[in-house]
Amino acid sequence: MHVHNMAITSHITRVGPTMALLVCVLVFICKAQAAAPAVYILGDSLVDVGNNNYLPLSLLKANFPHNGVDFPMGKPTGRFSNGQNAADFLAKKIGLPSPPPYLSSPPPYLSLTGGATPITGMSFASGGAGILEETGGFLVKQALSLGKQVEYFTRVHDKLVTQLGPSGAQAHLSKSIFLIVFGSNDWFAYYNVGSLAVKQYNPQQYVDRMVSTFKGLLKTLYGLGARKLVVSGVGAIGCCPIKRKENRTGECNVEINYWSTKYNDGLKIMLEGLKSESLGLNYAYFDTYGAMVNLFQNHEAYGYSKIKEACCGIGNLKADGPCIPLATYCSNRTNHVFWDLYHPTETIASLFAGYLYSGSQQFMVPMNVEQLLAL
Ligand SMILES: *[C@@H]1O[C@H](CO)[C@@H](O)[C@H](O)[C@H]1NC(C)=O
Ligand SMILES: *[C@@H]1O[C@H](CO)[C@@H](O)[C@H](O)[C@H]1NC(C)=O
Repeated sequence: MHVHNMAITSHITRVGPTMALLVCVLVFICKAQAAAPAVYILGDSLVDVGNNNYLPLSLLKANFPHNGVDFPMGKPTGRFSNGQNAADFLAKKIGLPSPPPYLSSPPPYLSLTGGATPITGMSFASGGAGILEETGGFLVKQALSLGKQVEYFTRVHDKLVTQLGPSGAQAHLSKSIFLIVFGSNDWFAYYNVGSLAVKQYNPQQYVDRMVSTFKGLLKTLYGLGARKLVVSGVGAIGCCPIKRKENRTGECNVEINYWSTKYNDGLKIMLEGLKSESLGLNYAYFDTYGAMVNLFQNHEAYGYSKIKEACCGIGNLKADGPCIPLATYCSNRTNHVFWDLYHPTETIASLFAGYLYSGSQQFMVPMNVEQLLAL
């Protein structure tokens, strides 16, 4: 389908505008072939496609070089990556364009009008965001929390109802994919210097708060019509350069990793419970943690010689500072796991999106996205 698509595009560029009619026909066919009407993305910087560009107070932005060095035209877009991120790759695999940032100006959802083609998705993802309301404010001064993202989705939902009618909106949403990538920042915030949460809650209590808050917001999404959830667990974030640099020999931080797995255990139980009490709800869970550990253990086989230091950054493991224009970046991005102190390179995002879409039960339970789409 994608190869097909690309072949069509290059063909069209060669033959020029006389083929406009053919283009329309082909675009129509391509749209009809997409496995879902839309993909809605809620998450943090792992899947942010530029929402934070529109948050004036946010300290976590990526709309400057060297971010985007491998993006088409080398353009920094607000993605925390050298190129595309997992949201882009997953949308492409589903056969849809990468959803635009909700905060784009003018807001893309406002252009939805009666009779127009329904939207093919929207991204609410925001760098620094957490499941817990306080996480974003603590880490980066301004980010769209999961709660805020659900609130913004409600506005899109209401617009869809106006456009398609209640049953049309319901049909659209029940077949749409909801990719939800959260949790890392809640743990970075918990273990950050000056954290208030660490004084108020022990790690198990914090796990419970994260899971119950998440569950409440997923119930809201279900109430609004979401039926196909793709939820990622927290990765081995103790192995990010920001955490490795705190260790003299560059080892992973075992405590944050341990509590990330404890959280993931709670998340999996919660998802199974939510499914059993929500008629028609299905989900695909991605074991990001397992996928990362597997990658580190077999990194040579995967072609990654650089698993500890970031490609772009400043200082020790390039993790003393973010990827700003003054930082240096590596010449080979395809042998580095990490682009900057927190985020993976484009090729890793592509690898993981491949797991999400068609991966085995090793990392995708109880099913992958392809199977979720077929329901
Ligand atoms: C570095 O990590 C190793 C392995 O987790 C641990 O045993 C050691 O205590 C750590 N050292 C420091 C200075 O944190
Ligand atoms: C970059 O690294 C990859 C993976 O190790 C390797 O296959 C490729 O040849 C390298 N590219 C350059 C230009 O060195």
